[in-house]
Amino acid sequence: MLSQIDVQKFNTLIEINTLINSNYGDLRVLLTHILESATRLCDGDASSILLFDKETQTLYFEVALGAKGTEVQRFTLKAGEGIAGWVAQHNKSVIVNDVVNDDRHFLHIAQQIDYTSKTMMAVPMRVKDECIGVIELINKKHGPYFEQEDLEWLEIFANQAALAVVNARSVEKAQNEIQLLQAQLQTDKGYHILIAKSQIILEKLDIINRIGQTDSSVLILGESGVGKELFAEQIHLRSKRRDQPFIRVNCAALPEGLLESELFGHVKGAFTGAVSDRQGRFDLADRGTIFLDEIGDMPLPLQAKLLRVIQEKTFEKIGSDTSITVNVRILAATNKNIEALVEQGNFRSDLYYRLNVLPLYIPPLRQRTEDIPELAGFFLKQCMAETKKQFSGFSNEAMDMMLSYSWPGNVRELENCVERACVISKNKWIGKEDLFLDKGIPSVTEGGSRDLKTAITTFKTHFIQKALTEHNWNQTETAKALDIQRTYLSKLIKELVIINPKE
Ligand SMILES: Nc1ncnc2c1ncn2[C@@H]1O[C@H](COP(=O)(O)OP(=O)(O)OP(=O)(O)O)[C@@H](O)[C@H]1O
Ligand SMILES: [Mg+2]
Repeated sequence: MLSQIDVQKFNTLIEINTLINSNYGDLRVLLTHILESATRLCDGDASSILLFDKETQTLYFEVALGAKGTEVQRFTLKAGEGIAGWVAQHNKSVIVNDVVNDDRHFLHIAQQIDYTSKTMMAVPMRVKDECIGVIELINKKHGPYFEQEDLEWLEIFANQAALAVVNARSVEKAQNEIQLLQAQLQTDKGYHILIAKSQIILEKLDIINRIGQTDSSVLILGESGVGKELFAEQIHLRSKRRDQPFIRVNCAALPEGLLESELFGHVKGAFTGAVSDRQGRFDLADRGTIFLDEIGDMPLPLQAKLLRVIQEKTFEKIGSDTSITVNVRILAATNKNIEALVEQGNFRSDLYYRLNVLPLYIPPLRQRTEDIPELAGFFLKQCMAETKKQFSGFSNEAMDMMLSYSWPGNVRELENCVERACVISKNKWIGKEDLFLDKGIPSVTEGGSRDLKTAITTFKTHFIQKALTEHNWNQTETAKALDIQRTYLSKLIKELVIINPKE
């Protein structure tokens, strides 16, 4: 006759099996679920799943539950250290009824977190007889000791957990390989990888798939750093022009005369300094796509010339009467309120309507928090490859903090934040203190990283922030005071994600 608790155990096992078989995406969530079930059904007060890192020969806490769960996660154990270490080394299960007096007990952690383990059971998680981790339950809640029957059940849960790890690792490996391949293909041509998890962004990509088939202009709108350029790339890559050129022009980066020559080219002698003929970007983009970034900053006379290209597909190089005909798809982007620019007379309304045939609004990161773990993981992986550092991921606290932060600088700010944390952190997990989301960026003199690149970036950020504050965030005046071009200042503000706290 099965007891009620046995029925619950069987049902839980079936449910876990289904989850594992459905290739459930997030390993830590799945392991947490397994551990929660095991802890509840075997009546433990606290519990952990430790995974074995072969490279460093250490066990680290992948999931820890109970009153001190979060604190425990910062510790690692060497093989053989503590009861869990003993289990890993001997690949054997154990029940310990008097933990405090057991020689194997590792007092250090207990003292640090102020939690006394009296009774414990720990079992190896095995894959093909090899121990890949340990699952342990501490302090039987209703009763003096863990029984042999509890141990046998824990062994079944440990098998499930091992299976979940193997599954997740093989899925991750396959995904990494695909991503790497995609990365190689795309970055060879200067394209970026676009990470998308939230429903809202997946829907935008779906729209892009349909937009891609047409030749209509697209106006991409959204706050700074949301990824407008990456969406422009996707429109091109998902269109029939994908094998043709994708030409980027930043309309804010050049003064009017130079921008005109950049876009349309010039002939020799057209102006002082025009020592030879030059092909414009529109010419280079023939049969492909041109991406006009920061279109809101395009000077009015050039807007007129651009309108003609859109309407008649022709233009002349500066200093030439010969018309050139091109077949170019136009994508444009701005983080400015373009309708307000039109109302103020700073943007031609006829050009606005021409460009705005298909508007594409990219929402800010705070409105699509499901993307945050995915993006953060992606940036961390990239940074680990560059710095040759190894992290297991983000601590739960760090992830919670990233999820609740408002990200005024959007994905660009998240990218910078993760990169900085990766350089600074000395632990296995990126912790909340590495993110500097509550304290602001560390000053150069404060501990942390000693590498020159980070120090220079930190200094630049502080220096510019201070100058901007002194000039009431007026960029023209600040640029003058710093003796740099205004366009260069605005580029730095964007790159360093300097945010006006009053906005
Ligand atoms: N979905 C995404 N996946 C991966 N990286 C992203 C994503 N969105 C943005 N990024 C990264 O964030 C940074 C900012 O993106 P991008 O330059 O496209 O922003 P933007 O919207 O054009 O900003 P701005 O208006 O300031 O020009 C880039 O480094 C980009 O690679
Ligand atoms: Mg941009």
